[in-house]
Amino acid sequence: MRAIAIGPYTLKTNVLLAPLSGCSDLAFRLICREHGAKFCFYEMIDANSLVHHSRGSDDLLKTTAKDKPIAAQLVGGDADIMLKAAKILLEKVDIPFLDINAACPVKKMIQKFSGANLLRDPKALYKIVKTLASKLDLPITVKLRIGYNHVDLKEVTTIAKNCEKNGAAALFVHGRTRSQLYAGEINYEAIKAIKHAVKVPVFGSGNIFSPEMAKKMFDLTDCDGITVARGAFGNPWIFKQIEKGEAFPVSLAEKLKVLKKHLSYIEKYKVTRSGYKVGFMRKIAIWYLKGFPEAAKIRAEVTRLETYEKIIALIDSIIID
Ligand SMILES: Cc1cc2nc3c(=O)[nH]c(=O)nc-3n(C[C@H](O)[C@H](O)[C@H](O)COP(=O)(O)O)c2cc1C
Repeated sequence: MRAIAIGPYTLKTNVLLAPLSGCSDLAFRLICREHGAKFCFYEMIDANSLVHHSRGSDDLLKTTAKDKPIAAQLVGGDADIMLKAAKILLEKVDIPFLDINAACPVKKMIQKFSGANLLRDPKALYKIVKTLASKLDLPITVKLRIGYNHVDLKEVTTIAKNCEKNGAAALFVHGRTRSQLYAGEINYEAIKAIKHAVKVPVFGSGNIFSPEMAKKMFDLTDCDGITVARGAFGNPWIFKQIEKGEAFPVSLAEKLKVLKKHLSYIEKYKVTRSGYKVGFMRKIAIWYLKGFPEAAKIRAEVTRLETYEKIIALIDSIIID
């Protein structure tokens, strides 16, 4: 673990939990922190939604004293709306830096000229970075992908340098293009090219599913830090494993204990309709219910359950050898 300066802020770890829409809620962050995550992100926040109906953000911004330190990320395509949203956000949260999403591949975001679309319209991105960095009193960072449809090292390093020039204090780089969505190879060379093109810290993202993959990201890119994303789904132990430099076995009993705790946090903290809440619990349960003889049958059963209590009863019925 190495400290990293993001503007005047000192980040005390170089392994972060990534922003994960629909996943990195308070319950998940608390579970990750209890297993070694030292810095987390809120889920991505849509600038337009925050400006127009800010009450809808209650669940997204739910936090507790133990859920610190934490950063936030805004997605949007218009500098003025992003600034308005950032000001509303900063009234509600205590964060050391704010990230701008220029990486989200989802069609809905692209159609709103935001997320990864900013890679096709870098001037709009620079304007957002400049506006936020010059008008707000905290460091602004940017999450990039390495291209929209294809990788052009000159183009993506130019985008990275211009983000820095306009005030970005760090860059988070997912080593895939927008077209790749979440599948396929990670282009380590492109992350490395970005790292060497700028002076601000660069964090690598993509396929961090094990301590070996984490080491590979550091070794092949020279990056300053990494963000763990899908690798933490049902596997919060990954943070301690990365710190240790090697994977260690996790027993089924331990997995089920942590799953039950995770579900209890969702039950306690999630601010949403009860039907949605149970659906969300089913998704989380499926993350953990893998790698034992009856797992497929149990996963199929989970998808039919309609209450928190029934999911817990099913987990309790799993026979541990
Ligand atoms: C379900 C899901 C939601 C995500 N939400 C966000 C998000 O809100 N903001 C963001 O910058 N990246 C988001 N990402 C991208 C991840 O942070 C990460 O860059 C990407 O998954 C690559 O890492 P991985 O291959 O280790 O999962 C999301 C990814 C997934 C799978």
